Amino acid sequence: MAKAFGTEFMPEMIISRYADNKWSEAEFVSSESLTLHPGSHVLHYASTCFEGLKAFRHADGSVNIFRMDQNVNRFEQSSRLLALPAVDKSLLHKMIIDIVAKFKDKVPETPGSMYIRPTHIGTEAAIGKAASPSLESLMYVLLTPVGDYFSSDVSLRLLVDDIGMRCAPDNGMIKSGGNYASALKHMIRAKSQYNADQVLFCSEGGVTETGAANFILIDDNEIITKALDESFLHGVTRDSVLTLAREQGYSILERDLSAAELIERSQHPGCEAALSGTAAVLASVGTLIFHDEEYKVGNGLAGPKVTELKKTLNEIQWGIAEDSHNWLTQV
Ligand SMILES: Cc1ncc(COP(=O)(O)O)c(C=O)c1O
Repeated sequence: MAKAFGTEFMPEMIISRYADNKWSEAEFVSSESLTLHPGSHVLHYASTCFEGLKAFRHADGSVNIFRMDQNVNRFEQSSRLLALPAVDKSLLHKMIIDIVAKFKDKVPETPGSMYIRPTHIGTEAAIGKAASPSLESLMYVLLTPVGDYFSSDVSLRLLVDDIGMRCAPDNGMIKSGGNYASALKHMIRAKSQYNADQVLFCSEGGVTETGAANFILIDDNEIITKALDESFLHGVTRDSVLTLAREQGYSILERDLSAAELIERSQHPGCEAALSGTAAVLASVGTLIFHDEEYKVGNGLAGPKVTELKKTLNEIQWGIAEDSHNWLTQV
């Protein structure tokens, strides 16, 4: 049986340490273990952030990383907003290229890819620092070969939760472990009570996102998705899909979408909804569960518009279509 997503790691990672106000030269080390002081800042005060991006193998044998600059920028931003030591973006850029180059031969054929996980943790051993930042940290990049996260005919069940919150509303644009841990209780309830695949967090300002993906609604020629603010993660896939959809003639409405409007629109014939994210790419949403009622989105099956947008994006990632936006970095 294939291993679960993200559980098989390349034997080495690349690491740099921040101490005495500077980053050390990056080095390859075993990815088997990490030695940390039990009083490390991250273990007590959650000074941690990470990224997720992918490298794809093209038919000509080349390996290409998708929108790496966006993930490096978001990593720098998360680190800054968590008061971790300032990230040297050119160092991280080089670390990603170097580790992918080292394991180039292990990048799976498409639709598989090499998932890249840069991570930043505060390592200062100082449990008195609950209210002040770690002055030391580790930045490392792990690699894990992955397959297709969802098969393309999947149609997800989402619990539309208008009470629970994924994370603190001013913390959503930070890709930090604590946000994922705080969302778990809602997801566990959604699975056990409603057999839902994911929770669509939808309090106050309307639809935000699920635990690990952004949300888009396609109603006729309109794509509706929340405008960027600090309450949710600014997905690289979201931006890519909106760019491609705009080129295909869709009108993109970046605005608040209440749960009531979502449910009402989901009943329109031909309406489609999807989750966007690096792991899932674009996954169709077939059912919304809201206030104990179930609503099919359109006919409840994966729709042609989502399927076509996913294909358009995949073809750029896989080197089948021209990379007219310069989204790929060849390793
Ligand atoms: C909470 C959350 N929202 C949205 C996304 C989608 O972001 P991206 O498209 O950059 O992967 C992710 C996945 O990384 C996520 O964890």
